[in-house]
Amino acid sequence: MNGNPIFCALDTKDVQVARALLTRLKGLIGGVKLGLEFFTANGPDGVCRVMAGSDLPLFLDLKLHDIPNTVAGAVRGMAALAPALTTVHASGGAAMMKAAVEAAAGRSKILAVTLLTSLGEADLPPLGVSGHVGDHVRRLADLAQDSGVDGLVCSAHEVAMLRAHIGPDLLLVVPGIRPRGAVGDDQLRILSPIEAIMAGADHLVIGRPITAAPDPVQAVREILTSLEAA
Ligand code: C5P
Repeated sequence: MNGNPIFCALDTKDVQVARALLTRLKGLIGGVKLGLEFFTANGPDGVCRVMAGSDLPLFLDLKLHDIPNTVAGAVRGMAALAPALTTVHASGGAAMMKAAVEAAAGRSKILAVTLLTSLGEADLPPLGVSGHVGDHVRRLADLAQDSGVDGLVCSAHEVAMLRAHIGPDLLLVVPGIRPRGAVGDDQLRILSPIEAIMAGADHLVIGRPITAAPDPVQAVREILTSLEAA
């Protein structure tokens, strides 16, 4: 993977929109994230059409969560798309994560999602989970690390804690990034790109601050400039 930490999330159902954005951005970003919205609408063929002619790494963010045999089959099934990174839910358990890692056979890095950032303290008791969000995230991160995954997806809020907790070996991939001055700056669970890198992030997943900007190219340039201090 190149040294540019920005994975641009192309969250659209429209192959042409995704392609047009990638054509404009490909010299400036480190990779492309395609997720469930794109994949359920366009399938593997759509992924190929977007990525055609680009040698950027693909983060295929499908957040798999099923029995180990099925997850292993899904990971093998996506091998033709050669994703550099893909995701499973840590809450699927150790056997499921190990099956994903084994099925990837080193071709793709398996990232575990600990707790969805849409869930907060109040959501844990109904799920039968004791303790605070941070406790549960650490528990799932330990399980993921013991299961041999290559990295974790974590919120901006947790990256410093997780980097200190798990050490240097796992990749930390962080969404919820907002450049300073962008809409959402007053929210709690966001960091600026430079803050996330300083906190220990390896890759930054950035969607709307780039894709919904009046000038996406300028938006990425400004983020890259802000990272030069790292
Ligand atoms: O908010 P933004 O458009 O930058 O989100 C980029 C990507 O990061 C989206 O694909 C979204 O699914 C993911 N995301 C996330 N957790 C968050 C915020 C965004 O996984 N807290």
